[in-house]
Parts: sequence; C-alpha cells; structure tokens
Amino acid sequence: MVHPTHLYEQLADDLKSIIAAGNLRPGDRLPSVRRLASERHLSVSTVLQALRQLEEGGLIEARPQSGYFVCHTSARRPQPDARSTPEEPVPVDVSQRVMRVLQAGRKPGVAPLAFALSDTTLLPLAALQRVYSSVVRRHPRLLESGMHIQIDNPALIRQLILRSVGWPGPLSAGELVITNSCTEALALCVRAVTRPGDTVAVESPAYYLMLQLLESAGLKALEIPTDPRSGLSIEALELATRDGRVTACLLVANASNPLGSIMPDEHKRRLAKLTAERGVAVIEDDIFGDLHFGSARPWPIKAFDKTGNVLHCSSFSKSLSPALAIGYVAAGRYRSQVVLQKAITSGPTNAIMQQVVAEYLETGAYDRHMRLLRRHHAQQVDAMRAAVARYFPAATRMTEPQGGLVLWVELPDEIDTSALFDRAIASDVAYVPGELFSASGMYRNCLRLNCGNPFTPAIDDAVRRLGALLAQQATMIPLPVSDRGYSCFR
Ligand SMILES: Cc1ncc(COP(=O)(O)O)c(C=O)c1O
Repeated sequence: MVHPTHLYEQLADDLKSIIAAGNLRPGDRLPSVRRLASERHLSVSTVLQALRQLEEGGLIEARPQSGYFVCHTSARRPQPDARSTPEEPVPVDVSQRVMRVLQAGRKPGVAPLAFALSDTTLLPLAALQRVYSSVVRRHPRLLESGMHIQIDNPALIRQLILRSVGWPGPLSAGELVITNSCTEALALCVRAVTRPGDTVAVESPAYYLMLQLLESAGLKALEIPTDPRSGLSIEALELATRDGRVTACLLVANASNPLGSIMPDEHKRRLAKLTAERGVAVIEDDIFGDLHFGSARPWPIKAFDKTGNVLHCSSFSKSLSPALAIGYVAAGRYRSQVVLQKAITSGPTNAIMQQVVAEYLETGAYDRHMRLLRRHHAQQVDAMRAAVARYFPAATRMTEPQGGLVLWVELPDEIDTSALFDRAIASDVAYVPGELFSASGMYRNCLRLNCGNPFTPAIDDAVRRLGALLAQQATMIPLPVSDRGYSCFR
C-alpha cells in the first residue's frame, strides 16, 4: 500500500475511508472548509487541495453557496463479478447499523419483511408443545441437571447423525457439540479458529451476522465474489488463499442468505480440498440445508470433508421454532477448542430443550413437516417475486432463490436503500438495506425481503408501499409498462 506523502493526501485518504465505511453517505454535507482546516490544523488551501482530489475522483461535489456533498454514485462500488479477483481485507463496522435496522423492524404494526423468519402458523408448535409437556412430566430430574460442563443429549446426537447417513461423509458423535442456537455455534467456531487481526474470507454479499461476528472478534473480512446461483466463487477463493493470509472461510453454501444460491457439489468438493490443503478452516452455516426447493436435500461442504477441517453449524430455528434455541456444530478436529469456547461463553445447552428436539425428531414428524414448510416457502418466494415485479421501479433485478426464505433485490443505481429506510418504517414496512451485507459499503442499491409469511393482502400492500417509495427515488425515465424488464440474476 502506498502511504500519502502530503498533508492534503492524508486528509483526502481519511475522508475517503469515512465515505467508504458509510459514515458519510450520499447527499451528506462535509464539514466546512474552515472547520476542517481548524480541526486538522491545516491551511485552507491544503484542505481545498484535498477536496479537489476527491471531487476529481467523483467522490464529492461542490454545490455553490452550500459546500461539499458526497456524490450519489460514490458509495456504490461496482457489484463484484463472480470471476473477479477479491479485494483487500477490511475491518468490519456494521453492528450498530444492523441493530438499528433490526430494532426498527420490530416496531408494532410494521410489515415483517426484515427478519428472516417463518410465520408461526407454519411451524409445528402444537406438536412441540405436546412433546414439551410430556418431557417435563416424564423427566422432572432434567431441572436438576445444572452442570458447568457441556452434556450433550445422546438421543439428540443420534438423531443428528441419522440425518446425515446419506452424505458421502456423515457426521460423527466425536465431533458434535449441541449449542444454544446457530448464532452461538458460529460465534464459538469463529473464536475457536482465529486470533484478533486475522483475515476471514466471506461471501459478498454476506449474511450480516457473519460480519458482526468478525467485527466483535476483531477480525478483517475479505469479501469473495459470488454467483447468484452457485454462490461463492471457488476461483476467487483460490486466488485469495494463495499467500496464506486467510485463516478461515465463513459461508452459507446451501440456500445462502441473502442470495438463496446453492453451491454445486463439485464446487463444494473443490472448496473442501483447497481449504484443507491450504490450512484455511471452513465454518459452514447449513441452517437452510433442509429448506431447499429442489427434489433432494443438498449435501453440505462437510459431506466432502476428509480431514476434519470443516466446522458444520446449524439449528432448528428456521425449521421448528427459534424459541427452542437448539443448534449444533460438527466441529471436526477443532472440537476441543469449540468446547472450551462454549464453557467460557455460555456453559451447557438447555437439557430440557435438547430432549424435546430429540423426541420430536424420533416421532418421524420432522420430514413431513419440512415437506410442507418448503412448499409454503417456495410459494411465498414466488408471490413476493411477482409483487416486486408489479410494484418496484423498472430495471429492478432480483434473485431466483433455490431455498431459504429471503429475496435479494437490486434496484437502479440511484436508489439508496439505507437513506430510505426511515421513511419505509414510517410507512410501516421494514426490510434490510443492502449495505449491511458488505464490510466495504457495497450494495447500497440493494435490499433483502423476508418471504417467511403467507402472502396476504396486507403483505401485498406493504410491498406496494415500499415500491412507491423506491420509485420516488428513481430518477430514471419510466419505461412503458409493456417494456419493463424485470430481469432475474443469472
Ligand atoms: C444464515 C443464517 N444463519 C443463522 C441464523 C440464526 O440462527 P439462530 O436463530 O439459530 O441463531 C440465521 C437467522 O436468520 C440465518 O439466516
């Protein structure tokens, strides 16, 4: 990296980083020249020179009598091409913005298009309640089982192994740890295999929780380009891991969040081999593996793991109920580090809930329930896609998810979904702005919609209101309705 030699270059670089991190957004006014000069102990002409450099680079613009403003095109970097070389690792700073969006999305009366959650009417709550009552009645001693060490329920471990027997490499009891959720499993794995300052490869766009986990552990993110159908680019990962700077790779290979892509088996096989050879630990989040829309459950990367290098995480939050808070990790050769992290973070996992999930799985009802749930989700995603095509501005593009319950939407360049968020909440509709899926401020013209709810007239109306808001921001000339090209990612 070239270090600035002049004071004006230093100031220009600092302002660039502030803009890239999203702390100064398109349309925001920069502090005045006098204020910058006085606060940075620089002359007015040095400040002007720095601003001129940013202006020439198209990052800011001068408006007569008003000052300098961040340009609307500046915050959006080009969307990465799945074949392109990855960029430099960057520190992560998304958590505060994620928390703000999630809090706002919980406001009563706001249409639930932000959280990736199924409507509770689609979950087998009555059956789970029956199992729960029966477990509590038959096993009163579970209430006494408080221990400081992790005790994994053998019946649950057995069920997890049974569910993987069709994979080329099934899970084994010696590598499993039951956790309080998939979030906990991922957090333990990240801490088990990295040290602060390390670089972790993530998908671009990446599920914002992954970025938050890196941020809280003091790690840098290296954003790897993805393809909307096949997920993370193996070629780009190959390039990124050549020089040994990547410690781990964190990804959702099956029905990724937010793209809904499923990585082909051949890519999974290559990824497992490449990372094992290069000593890059793989943390795989397979929470949507059972929520595919195809005819057969896609294998996880873990199925191709020959060396214990893959940490395979999941939970029953999306399939049965988030309230169970039961997840797990098959941690391969990293199990003892994960167990240690668990002991010092949360202690053992709720013994009653472990037994409830084990007994529910033993009834055989899970597969029947999942067939129905997958069908509902696939229909809801279709209905959401049709509504986006009806109401969003022309030239909007969207994914064709192969599983999961979210839809990723790419809007015309001039639309800034972060800037619009508060107005959407005021119109009682939530979503997740695209920039929260990038450590480097990409995807400001994108957003993610939850499709976990039955597509009622109320949801349709929420998508219509959101479309109207977005259309107000689109400055492009509307096409005649018949020419509108609502293309899909390919
Ligand atoms: C990809 C992915 N992983 C993990 C989670 C969180 O799972 P849990 O509720 O079990 O922590 C989510 C929730 O949206 C998710 O989308």
